[in-house]
Amino acid sequence: MRAGFVWASQRESLERLSQRLPLTRSLVRRFVAGQDLPSTLIALERLRVAGLATTVDVLGESVSTEAAATAAADRYLRVLDALAEHGLDGNVSVKLTQMGLDIDAGFCRRNVARIVEQAATTGAFVRIDMEDHTRTDATLDIARDLHAQHGDVGVVIQSYLRRSAEDVEALIAERIRVRLCKGAYNEPASVAFATKAQSDESYLRLMERLLMAGEYPGLATHDERIIGAARELVAREGIGNERFEFQMLYGVRRDLQEALAAAGHTMRVYVPFGAEWYPYFMRRLAERPANVLFVLKTLARDRG
Ligand code: FDA
Repeated sequence: MRAGFVWASQRESLERLSQRLPLTRSLVRRFVAGQDLPSTLIALERLRVAGLATTVDVLGESVSTEAAATAAADRYLRVLDALAEHGLDGNVSVKLTQMGLDIDAGFCRRNVARIVEQAATTGAFVRIDMEDHTRTDATLDIARDLHAQHGDVGVVIQSYLRRSAEDVEALIAERIRVRLCKGAYNEPASVAFATKAQSDESYLRLMERLLMAGEYPGLATHDERIIGAARELVAREGIGNERFEFQMLYGVRRDLQEALAAAGHTMRVYVPFGAEWYPYFMRRLAERPANVLFVLKTLARDRG
């Protein structure tokens, strides 16, 4: 089922259909903070008051024209302005295919550099999200390049990729901040572990390396077993809460988000907003069968 939802996330015809269904909109609201910036600022303020840190994602990916990529970077510049103006967390997450990676890597890099340069003026941090394995090398190259020039840039490593142990060691040596996640795309067995158990074991190993030697790692997971293991490790090794953070997605395990913040951890919520929610939403359905049941129940109720 997971693979089917990830496949559907890449189908434009399904995207057009779903955007015409009023029903999907109410379901999407669970995972997407707002359709526009003003409503998202209200959601961000609520999270701030609840003691949660945030990173903002302007939804969109796989753009095919320079004009669309430039417009997407411009939207990030407006977000950074608004975050600074409202005294909100200066932290954004950016996908390179939204910035024109599939058009030209140099163009994409220049586009992201505009965001990074503006972020530097207000002390904001830019995280470069990781997409499917065909983009891993290009994403790491651009992240390294921008980090070398501007500092406050980090990247994401996916524990399901076989290469990630090597990438983590290199990023530790380069003092680049890593967000560790399991990975959300359909990947072939040649590059990714075939079972969830293997990806989870890989996560635990990489997490330990990052906590022991990495630069302020972000542990992005809702997996209570892994979170428990992280907490045990930091307690045992005397690693202070200021040396790492937990991260979760907007609308997922709010109870756990609040519990970790209350326990004194930095808990950062990934807050997506905008009209281009379809691929993001489908990946969230793919992650948990219960989300699909929730969609089906709502459909049945609305038809009844
Ligand atoms: P797992 O999938 O094993 O889930 C553990 C438990 O968490 C489930 O049993 C359920 O209780 C809960 N849960 C997980 N997902 C849920 C959902 N969608 N709805 C409801 N409950 C859910 N991926 C990527 O490829 N590139 C990236 O850049 C990022 N960035 C990113 C940032 C942040 C802050 C997070 C939290 C995640 C990402 N991801 C990502 C997504 C990530 O790779 C992964 O797909 C999801 O986090 C789900 O994996 P878990 O680690 O939560 O474990």
